Amino acid sequence: MNVGCWRRIESLMAMSYFFIFFVFFTCTVADDSIVSRFQEYLKINTAHPSPNYHEAANFILSQAKSLSLETQTIEFVKNKPLILLKWSGKNPNLPSILLNSHTDVVPVEPHKWSHPPFEATIDQGNIYARGSQDMKCVGLQYLEAIRRLKASNFEPLRTIYISFVPDEEIGGHDGAEKFASSNIFDEMNVGIMLDEGLASPDDNYRLFYAERCPMWLVIKATGAPGHGAKLYDNTAMENLFKSIESVRRFRASQLDLVKAGVKSEGEVVSVNMVFLKAGTPSPTGFVMNLQPSEAQAGFDIRVPPVADQASLERRIAEEWAPASRNMTYEFKQKVSVYDKNGKPILTAHDGSNPWWALLEGAIHKANRKFGKPEIFPASTDARYFRLKGVPAIGFSPMANTPILLHDHNEFLNKEEYLKGIEVYEHILKAFASSHVETKKDEAIRDEL
Ligand SMILES: *[C@@H]1O[C@H](CO)[C@@H](O)[C@H](O)[C@H]1NC(C)=O
Ligand SMILES: [Zn+2]
Repeated sequence: MNVGCWRRIESLMAMSYFFIFFVFFTCTVADDSIVSRFQEYLKINTAHPSPNYHEAANFILSQAKSLSLETQTIEFVKNKPLILLKWSGKNPNLPSILLNSHTDVVPVEPHKWSHPPFEATIDQGNIYARGSQDMKCVGLQYLEAIRRLKASNFEPLRTIYISFVPDEEIGGHDGAEKFASSNIFDEMNVGIMLDEGLASPDDNYRLFYAERCPMWLVIKATGAPGHGAKLYDNTAMENLFKSIESVRRFRASQLDLVKAGVKSEGEVVSVNMVFLKAGTPSPTGFVMNLQPSEAQAGFDIRVPPVADQASLERRIAEEWAPASRNMTYEFKQKVSVYDKNGKPILTAHDGSNPWWALLEGAIHKANRKFGKPEIFPASTDARYFRLKGVPAIGFSPMANTPILLHDHNEFLNKEEYLKGIEVYEHILKAFASSHVETKKDEAIRDEL
């Protein structure tokens, strides 16, 4: 039962009880079928390493058919279908709206779940399934919002595209990355795109205007090998320890800013040691009386576009892996926080971006609240679209929900799911009715 239904029921209180019963009944039936469609999608196992993309594609195509949306199945890479749906606007010359979601989910450890991860069991109103938060909810909420807008005879001024992309959880290279750099995408003339956000444990929805970029660093120390009983300077282990101590001091300084409430998680540089590799293997473990001549450590570093990535790189070269300490380093992955013009990749979230105000207004209209705009702590597909200069907002309408993406027992409450549909209905109405000029859209892009 959603809020809209309750309001209708309240306003009918004065009327006959029979009629009240009738409205109650039809609302409940409608909600039930909305939830069962969500369950149907969740039951399709699209977990890596072998996501069932074709079944997901067939499901989405059948939904699109029931909504009379134009459909296109694109395989940038064979057997990795991207489904693109289109609801044409009355003015196709205006920049369009793109609603993106990924169809894949991360793997599960089924025995650690209280409910099977691909059965979408409802327990006390909570729908348990891998993908219930990340992000099959959002994909279907887009479609349910469209279903309701169509039922109310709404006609969009701008064209609305809905994309269901593969492979986000493994980097998006065969999905969103190829899509964003395709001619198909250029021809869509996208003015604003929505992608995933995160659940919020409190009342406030979370809105994301940028994301941190990964720098996966491996540092390597060398030094003279020697007897395990001998004390001498400049061993590989000692040289590596000095680096690790330096990294730890930096890490603590960043974490302190978050703990003190000075910065949010996405605004600081995160650095976590993910491996240590050293020692001379023996049949029973490691040789215990030998100091090795090499030692390595790996770090997952995430840099927000508001940080100075160049100075971080200097810190790595001078403090974390200095040649003077016989150290070398390499990046397993390094994504720049800057675009080709050297500007940080982020979506304006102030008065210069009219879409942001429309989004906030729509959330208010749906009687919901949102917190301060944030930087997404990890990576999403939105980065590929921002890199193209398209404003992109990360938003998954899940308030009062524990953050369980990639966790065991991922769930989303049924009422929260239904509420999200209402929110998207307001957002789409606001976006698709807006007369914001093409020029203005281009201006936003230039600013970025
Ligand atoms: C670096 O390696 C050279 C050559 O092995 C050695 O002489 C020097 O002491 C080392 N320096 C440090 C700081 O490890
Ligand atoms: Zn996701």
